[in-house]
Amino acid sequence: MKTLLTHIEALLKDSSNAIEKSDSLEQLEQVRVQFLGRKGKVADLMPLLSALSLEDKRTAGPAMNECKTVIEKLFDSKKQRLIDTTLAAKEAASKYFDVTAYTARPHEGSLHPYTHVTKIITDFFTQLGFQVADGPEVETEFYNFEALNIPADHPARDMQDTFWLKIPGLLMRTQTSNVQIHSMKKNTPPIAVISTGRVYRNEATDASHDCQFQQLEGMFIDKNVSLSNLIATMKLFLQTLLDDKNVKIRIRPGFFPFVEPGIEIDASCPFCTAGCSTCKHTRWIEMVGAGLIHPNVLKAGGINPEKYRGFAFGFGLTRLVMLKYGISDIRLLHSPTVEFLKQF
Ligand code: PHE
Repeated sequence: MKTLLTHIEALLKDSSNAIEKSDSLEQLEQVRVQFLGRKGKVADLMPLLSALSLEDKRTAGPAMNECKTVIEKLFDSKKQRLIDTTLAAKEAASKYFDVTAYTARPHEGSLHPYTHVTKIITDFFTQLGFQVADGPEVETEFYNFEALNIPADHPARDMQDTFWLKIPGLLMRTQTSNVQIHSMKKNTPPIAVISTGRVYRNEATDASHDCQFQQLEGMFIDKNVSLSNLIATMKLFLQTLLDDKNVKIRIRPGFFPFVEPGIEIDASCPFCTAGCSTCKHTRWIEMVGAGLIHPNVLKAGGINPEKYRGFAFGFGLTRLVMLKYGISDIRLLHSPTVEFLKQF
């Protein structure tokens, strides 16, 4: 009897110590199993109790029960305290925000080379009073060819391998020159517009050819527009674009059915002094196709060629972007390869 009471006392002390020391719900649960579980320390005392005489059982029995209840109460109150502190910690964490904590940085974007060069071009021309025009990429035969003085049987149609659509008379535009006619029809002179955008040619793809690329088109129509206006504008433009005031230009005759006279403009190579692979060791880079707008084209656009004259120019924006950034493969420029695009 005495031993049992001593055991009960020791059990109360041990369990209360163990419960108090637990600092997590998991640890507390282990302690509960250790003392109150089916094979726990309280259960271990049962054989001692049943070995007692009936009389001793009357005192020892309630003592055992009391011991169990006390341990259970200690356990419950500790459990509640642990829950409260965990909640409080969570609440505190959500109230305060650690601004110094490390966070993964989002990927920084950058402008696509096309966007960058298009911006330089539009900034330059809008400062001169040009407006930015747009034209459809799915075009009619009229705007892409006929109105530009290229009738159906004209051999110049062969210069541009065309993607024809299944609907007769519709095609993917082969040049941005279609914008010339749209702008003439929409406005009255003076008209000064530029336009950049995609054009399509039915060509096999390799490092320097793609079935789609971009062009820049420009046009100025007024009463006394001359070839020297065109040349002066182009010179200033190429110097701005190539970011070099010393760039010289060279004029050669060129044939485009929609201009007369037609010229081609080369720029002196800004990348070398004695010839390099970019200028194919000639010191000149072919840049622009241009000329004075053919009277037939003005007529097709609804403008009187007796009263007005204009100049037009066009060039491969894609080629220019590749030149400017030293991109050797057109497919990279048109691909969504992030590692490549990140460089710009
Ligand atoms: N559209 C012509 C081409 O694609 C370029 C050009 C435009 C030439 C305007 C003269 C005037 O080659």
